[in-house]
Amino acid sequence: MAENNEGNTVSESEVDVVRIFDTTLRDGEQSPGASLTSAEKLEIARQLARLGVDIIEAGFPAASPDDLKAVQRIAQEVGTQDGPVIAGLARAHKSDIDKAWEAVQYAAKPRIHTFLATSDIHMERKLRMTREEVKARVREMVSYAKAYCDDIEFSPEDAGRSDPDFLIEVLTIAIEAGATTLNIPDTVGYTTPDEYYALMHRLITETPGSDQVIWSVHCHDDLGMATANTLAGIRAGARQAEVTVNGIGERAGNTSLEEVVMALHTRRPYYHLDTNIDTTQIIRTSRMVSNYTGMTVQPNKAIVGSNAFAHEAGIHQDGMLKDQRTYEIMTPETVGLNQSRLVLGKHSGRHAFRVRLEELGFTLSDDELQTAFKRFKELADKKKTVTDADLEALVADELYGPQEVYSLLDLQVACGRPGMPTATVRLRGPDGTVQTVPAIGTGPVDAAFRAIDSIIQAPNTLIEYSVHSITEGIDAMGEVTVRITAENGSTRTFGGYGADTDIIMASAKAYLAAVNRMLIVKGGRHGRPEGQAATIQALA
Ligand code: KIV
Ligand code: ZN
Repeated sequence: MAENNEGNTVSESEVDVVRIFDTTLRDGEQSPGASLTSAEKLEIARQLARLGVDIIEAGFPAASPDDLKAVQRIAQEVGTQDGPVIAGLARAHKSDIDKAWEAVQYAAKPRIHTFLATSDIHMERKLRMTREEVKARVREMVSYAKAYCDDIEFSPEDAGRSDPDFLIEVLTIAIEAGATTLNIPDTVGYTTPDEYYALMHRLITETPGSDQVIWSVHCHDDLGMATANTLAGIRAGARQAEVTVNGIGERAGNTSLEEVVMALHTRRPYYHLDTNIDTTQIIRTSRMVSNYTGMTVQPNKAIVGSNAFAHEAGIHQDGMLKDQRTYEIMTPETVGLNQSRLVLGKHSGRHAFRVRLEELGFTLSDDELQTAFKRFKELADKKKTVTDADLEALVADELYGPQEVYSLLDLQVACGRPGMPTATVRLRGPDGTVQTVPAIGTGPVDAAFRAIDSIIQAPNTLIEYSVHSITEGIDAMGEVTVRITAENGSTRTFGGYGADTDIIMASAKAYLAAVNRMLIVKGGRHGRPEGQAATIQALA
């Protein structure tokens, strides 16, 4: 027996489960610069299934044929009977709902998630619809989706700024039309925890038929309150939380998965709620998402930041040595840090390598294994011990990077004083031709980027460059992430990631990955010869 947060006594059998709905691949991918390739999306979806999320929102199939295909593939390969529910987002339009169904129908447990805005500002200024029209559309589109699929989620967009009386009318209609989950988005991150609690509580207690559906929370972090709001909504009775890994998402992002899960886990005596998440997979998932999206995690980020379990102050270190619990409310092991750190070395064979990758959750084809093993041997020659983090970086860098338009064959730099930092880069282009070009820069990284630029000639602005070591020691692998924008007035950014024991090499790989991604997405609009543009378009 235990007391819940309302002061009532509850038995273990009464402990409820909060479903974790992960929208990293949909709302998260809407982060500026976070575009992912289909291979990366599939790999992230597999890792989310290992993490134990209940629902994966795999994308927005109506957005593009590529998005539709990516959702379809995730539905087929990850949406198995004992796997998660696979959801596809759709505006409240028949064509969007058709596309969502076309993609998710292959999952053993498919879901269509449809939404329509209900705040006055959105209805008047964006939709140009009256309240009556919105209610009619909700009835029509939820019924339309229900004809395809039993599991229907409806979201009144911008609920946080909607009139609660009107929301109740809309949600009543959604239930009548067959919605099984009602999600209440604070789309612009405007509400406070007290307000959001009151809103959820009112909707749950006053909407007729409320007990037939699962209530869900979806918060954005514009005022830094997304996690607090999500937990407030859960306290009010929501049993589904919509979250993203590392909190990535539109503008300031979404509620972060790891914060909600670890709050419920660490403060279980307070919330008296469980999730189905295997918390030891959290760090691995966070690293994968950060590597593939090119969005670095700030060092002081709760749970997954590199400083989250670091203790610097003397008083803290002294306390930690006496008893970890003095300054740690959860152990690093709970979230998957420090697990079997030193595992493989230069004498390890292909079998041990494959088994370790499988333990880490990577399912590689024979060809991929061959490539990865070769790269592992090169790394093990340079480094005494190859850690799990090294292996994850290696697989991310080698196997799941974006399709290559240009590939890096060689790089040589000369730097130091006196002299001018110079880099010579050899790249293979889309038509197979190899070009070798030297360039001078303000430092070796700048010189390498300039040499790449003079071959590719895809004007861009470097807006972020960050480097850090994955593990300790002078022989550690360096991880580099860069973000660029195309110089054509667009605000869209492209991320790239590279890992190597040589940080200049890691930098060149990351920069080239970002440029490749820009070329693939933009398809030949960079002052390139006609023939090359066609090849790039074909790769997109
Ligand atoms: O923030 C939002 O309103 C959304 C909806 C589509 C659920 O992401
Ligand atoms: Zn959202």
